[in-house]
Amino acid sequence: KQKGNILKFKEMKQQGKKITMVTTYDFGMMSQVDKTDVDMILVGDSAANTMMGYEGTVHIDLDTMLVFCKAVANAAKHTFMVADMPFMTYEIGPEQAMLNAGRMIREGHADALKLEGGERIEHIVTALVKAGIPVMGHIGLTPQSAAQLGGFKVQGKSLESARQIVKDALALERAGVFAITLEAIPSPVAKIITDTVKVPTIGIGAGNDCDGQILVIHDLLGLFDRYTPKFVKRYANLGEDMQKAINTYCREVRDGVFPDEEHSFSMSKELAEQLAE
Ligand code: KIV
Ligand code: NA
Repeated sequence: KQKGNILKFKEMKQQGKKITMVTTYDFGMMSQVDKTDVDMILVGDSAANTMMGYEGTVHIDLDTMLVFCKAVANAAKHTFMVADMPFMTYEIGPEQAMLNAGRMIREGHADALKLEGGERIEHIVTALVKAGIPVMGHIGLTPQSAAQLGGFKVQGKSLESARQIVKDALALERAGVFAITLEAIPSPVAKIITDTVKVPTIGIGAGNDCDGQILVIHDLLGLFDRYTPKFVKRYANLGEDMQKAINTYCREVRDGVFPDEEHSFSMSKELAEQLAE
C-alpha cells in the first residue's frame, strides 16, 4: 500500500475513483487500519465522544488531540493522516490558527488539518494554506457548533440554507482546501457541490454522489452503542465479540483452565524439588 497525497486525491476525483476514509484515534487501531485499503484517516475530534465519552466535541482541547495524533502517527506508515483542529483553536484568527496548526503538524505529525466552517473561516483557511499546510474543509452539520444549530440536525434542507452551504464550499475552494467534508446534508445538495468544486468531497450523511466517504470507525465496527445516527452503517459487531472474548477469559480463570502449561514457565523437576524442601 502506497501512502496517498493531495495531488493523488484530486486525481482520484478526476478519474471517478471513490476515496475511502475512516477515523482513528490510537496506535492499536491504526496498526490494523494501516493494513487496509483505506485511502485516508482522520484523527477526529469525535475522539471526545468515542474515546472519552463526552456528549460533544467542544470538550476536547489541543493537548488531548495531540495525544491521539501522536499515537496514530506512530502506526500511520502507509496512510495519509488528517487531524481535526479542536474547538476554539482557530476561530480567534489566522495567528492563533497558525500557532496551533504548527503544533498539530510538528508535534502531532498530521499530514493535513481539518477545520469546521465555510465563508466565516475563509480568511483563516487562506492563511494556513499560504503557510504550506494542506487543509480539509468541513461544512453542513458542523458538530463544534451543534449548539448554535439547535442540535445534531440535517443542514441545507431549505433553499436558503442549501445555497449557503454551496457558497461555503466555494469559499473553501477559493481558500485553497484540498478536500471538503460534507456532513448531514440532503444528497442533491452534496451532488451540486461535488459537480461544482474541483476538489474532492468526502461525505458522511451526504449521499452517494460525493467523491468519497468517511465513517467514524467505532460506528463502522460496532464499538459505540450510545447512539447511532441515520447515516451510520455497521459493518461488524466488535463490541459483542470483545464481550464474548473477555467473558471466556473470565470463565477459564474461574474454572482453573487458564493459564495452562502452554502459557506458563517451567523449571527442571530437580530444581523444583530442591526448592520445595
Ligand atoms: O470528528 C469526526 O469524526 C469527523 C467526521 C465525522 C467527519 O469530523
Ligand atoms: Na470532527
